[in-house]
Amino acid sequence: MAQKLAFRHLRAIQYRILRRSQFRRTFLFALQAGSPLVRSLLASLTLLAVAMAAPVAAAQKVALFIDVSKPGPKIDRNLFGQFAEHLGHGVYEGIWVGPDSKIPNTRGIRNDVVAALKAIKVPNVRWPGGCFADEYHWRKGIGPQRTVTLNPNWGGVIEPNTFGTTEFMDFLDQIGAEAYLSVNVGSGTPQEAAEWLEYLTTAQPTTLAKERAANGHPAPYKVAFLGIGNESWDCGGNMTPDYYLSQLKIYSRFVRNFNPAQQDKQQMLKIAVGPGGSESRWTEWTDAIMKAYQSHTWSWDMNGLSMHSYTVVKWPPSFTSVGFGETEYAQILKSTLEMNSLVEKHSAIMDKYDPEKKVALVVDEWGGWYAPLPGSNPGFLAQQNSLRDAVLAALNLNIFARHADRVRMANIAQMINVLQAMILTDKEKMVLTPTYYVYKMYVPFQDATFVPATFDAGTFTHDGITLPRIDAIAAKDKAGKLWLAITNVDPNQSAEIEVTLAGMNAKSAAGETLSASKVDSVNSFDAPNTVVPKPFSAKAQDGKLTLKLEPKSVTAIALEQ
Ligand code: AHR
Repeated sequence: MAQKLAFRHLRAIQYRILRRSQFRRTFLFALQAGSPLVRSLLASLTLLAVAMAAPVAAAQKVALFIDVSKPGPKIDRNLFGQFAEHLGHGVYEGIWVGPDSKIPNTRGIRNDVVAALKAIKVPNVRWPGGCFADEYHWRKGIGPQRTVTLNPNWGGVIEPNTFGTTEFMDFLDQIGAEAYLSVNVGSGTPQEAAEWLEYLTTAQPTTLAKERAANGHPAPYKVAFLGIGNESWDCGGNMTPDYYLSQLKIYSRFVRNFNPAQQDKQQMLKIAVGPGGSESRWTEWTDAIMKAYQSHTWSWDMNGLSMHSYTVVKWPPSFTSVGFGETEYAQILKSTLEMNSLVEKHSAIMDKYDPEKKVALVVDEWGGWYAPLPGSNPGFLAQQNSLRDAVLAALNLNIFARHADRVRMANIAQMINVLQAMILTDKEKMVLTPTYYVYKMYVPFQDATFVPATFDAGTFTHDGITLPRIDAIAAKDKAGKLWLAITNVDPNQSAEIEVTLAGMNAKSAAGETLSASKVDSVNSFDAPNTVVPKPFSAKAQDGKLTLKLEPKSVTAIALEQ
């Protein structure tokens, strides 16, 4: 009992130290990053607590404090965006099967996929690429006669262009998402892009508008986001920052959205190509674009700076997406956590030129990139999706949410059958991945208000790799309900989270938890329910709400007063 009281007292001291600091999260991140002063202070407190408390159980407890009275920025729903490139079976077979297919479809678009995507409330879809976008010529994909071309980026296969503008906009309409179009800067012209936008958005009876009407859509479409090029420093034309800037200014000026409903409100947001890493090449790129933005005139503008960052560890991608152990689990998660410093590095440069944070950092390609599945076309980037990917997704979504003032959009790569997908299909079969379920569990966080959560993440070490054991975010949804998402990264030890709230008295919690027996557990066509969420609930006892989390799990719960 004395030990218990002493432990409580120590926790109270830890709380007070943390609560006094304006930078509670920074403090905890400093611990993870290895700041010697903070590390030794917390380590001593923790060691003392461990020594005085009952040996194992107490060591697994985590005190989590949420101050409901201190709301932060909005967690933009667009952080949960998707990316669908003409690549492998991402579009063809994944979305498009054609109206004559035996697979149930609506105007050629798979019904099972649409129903699954509706359930995760996809806010926006980036299309048609990726590297593909800089070779895409939109006119080849409209009207009754489509031009058959090639897809040299991705396996050199035939591109039938049967899925074009009409089909993409129909798909968005069916799933209830907004359009994020990437226009061709690499091999296209400003005129081609400007005409695409006129075709899509004008309500006036121009020749292009009449062509759109003849193709089945008299009303103008809404285009919410315009990506001006893709990786223009590499597959998009290997441009220097200055060369790209000259293109950006021209495209920004002339590629107009004419939709009358998007003139004052809901204006189309223009997203410039941004960095692809942390090295000086990338910081110089961000610096150049943001410096130009700072002195931009009326004639051009940008609302977002794109950033691409995959979790790869080694290039070419050699980690397998199935059949791996805890070492690879720890290596991949360690690498994925670098997203935090990457976001902070580029945000700091953006702050220099845009302290009001008018320009969003748009992480429009991210996710785990592993070796192609044996027997698959290496150009199709086909991989399985495991419990490790669910944890990876939650950690990244949490990083984005913690930087929600600057990171206002993100698009996981890619939606179906490619890289870290939500959905895998094989002819008529469809399976939902562990990553899909994380997106489903995080739906309440879309457009919710970030609420700071403070906790000592602790660590776990495997094979010399040390990771934070716990990660968590909290947010208040539009109805005022408080949500908590907690990840227990430790693959073997459960965690007990003692929740303390300021400004609210939580009596119970209910939601879902996602885990499985192994770090590489997957959902397959034969066993689609290996990694699926289970109901989770907890009730406060003696005024204390304790959550028991399974090892390697992601849990999302609402707290009830
Ligand atoms: O997502 C696959 C590819 O990765 C994209 O086409 C490209 O933008 C990135 O390099």
